[in-house]
Parts: sequence; C-alpha cells; structure tokens
Amino acid sequence: MTISEKEHEITASFYWMSLDRDLSAVIEIENQSFRYPWKPNDFYNCLTKGKNPANGIVAVYNGQLIGYIIYKIRKRFIEIFGIAVHPAYRRMGIGSQLLAKVMGISASIQQKKITIMIGERNLKGQFFFKNNGFKATAVVYKPFKGFNEDDGYVMEYKAPRPKLKPESKSFRSFLRRFFKE
Ligand SMILES: CC(C)(COP(=O)(O)OP(=O)(O)OC[C@H]1O[C@@H](n2cnc3c(N)ncnc32)[C@H](O)[C@@H]1OP(=O)(O)O)[C@@H](O)C(=O)NCCC(=O)NCCS
Repeated sequence: MTISEKEHEITASFYWMSLDRDLSAVIEIENQSFRYPWKPNDFYNCLTKGKNPANGIVAVYNGQLIGYIIYKIRKRFIEIFGIAVHPAYRRMGIGSQLLAKVMGISASIQQKKITIMIGERNLKGQFFFKNNGFKATAVVYKPFKGFNEDDGYVMEYKAPRPKLKPESKSFRSFLRRFFKE
C-alpha cells in the first residue's frame, strides 16, 4: 500500500482490462455507479467488435479491482466511454489516476484531444472532469435515447502545447555562420 502526499489519496496498480478476468468486478462497480448501467454484452461488444475496438484499463488496490476506464482511440481524438470507481474508494484519487493513464496514452501518440459525453444530471462526473482540466464544449440533445431522455454535455481536454526552448546564443551564432549572414 502506498499513501501519497494527499492524506486521503491512495495509489493503485493499473492493468489492461481482460474480459475473462475482470468483467464480473467491473459489472459490480458499473451497477453501483450508473442509473442505466451497461450490461456484460455492452462491454463485450465495445471491447471486441469492429475494426477499432475500445480499450479498458482497470485499477487494482490490495488485490481488489476498484475502478476502470473505457476509451477508444479515434483518428483525431480519444473518446472516453466510461469511467467508474467503487463507491468505497471515491475521492481518493483513483479516478484521476485512471484518467492520467489515458492522458499519458494520448500524449504518447500525440493525440491532443480527449472527449467524454456526460449526462446533464451527472454533476459529480462534471466536477470530476472539470477538475481534471476538461471544459464543456457542446450540448447534445438526447444522445442516450433508448437508455434515457437526458441531454448530454461534451467535455474536452486539450493537452497544453509543449513550450519551445528559446534558441541558445551559440545556436543562433551557428545559424548566422551557416547562412553566412
Ligand atoms: C466520477 C468518478 C469516476 C470520480 O472518481 P474519484 O476516484 O472519486 O475521483 P478523484 O478522487 O480522482 O477526484 C478528483 C477530483 O475530482 C473532483 N470530484 C470528484 N468527485 C467529486 C464529487 N462527487 N463532487 C465534487 N467534485 C468531485 C474533486 O475536485 C476531486 O478532487 P478532491 O477530492 O481533492 O476534491 C467517481 O465519482 C464515479 O465512479 N462516479 C460514478 C460514475 C460516473 O459518474 N462516471 C463519470 C461519467 S462516465
């Protein structure tokens, strides 16, 4: 067990989600987290079907699966389909650590944007994403039709551009000599 600087914060271990190993624990958390939870088949289809299936990462603490995030790498952005943490482990930094994993993947493939569609009534989720650097950019009317009648907010994270190092003096003089200024 590792306790980090914040007193309430714990640090989990992270693994790629395996349907065989993790699905039952994921479904348990899903059922405790959403009014309209995904069924096992929704996870199965999302993570296995099509040319470009989604990926999942799970957080494990003291041998227990306590959270997960499902995301898909699209051409121009990464879309998060869902993130949830076991109710007993909320506000301990686990959601942010899961999100940081996806942010790390996004940086490693130079994909600058991450998006999530979040229900208009999910204020806690909105706070969570806002406090992790996401901004609401659009309202979509009834995107979950069939599941529920709520509207959705699109929230986006844009990675900051890396700061360019100012050219050093010697580099400028090299350039001057090179171009025989
Ligand atoms: C949203 C969720 C994943 C956050 O996970 P978490 O592990 O509790 O999040 P963190 O501990 O990393 O929280 C980071 C910050 O987000 C904000 N935040 C998180 N939960 C919040 C809440 N219930 N109310 C207000 N702000 C909240 C806080 O600023 C928090 O930092 P702090 O605890 O130092 O104040 C979790 O609450 C959850 O599983 N909710 C149900 C599922 C859901 O709504 N998912 C999102 C839509 S897909």
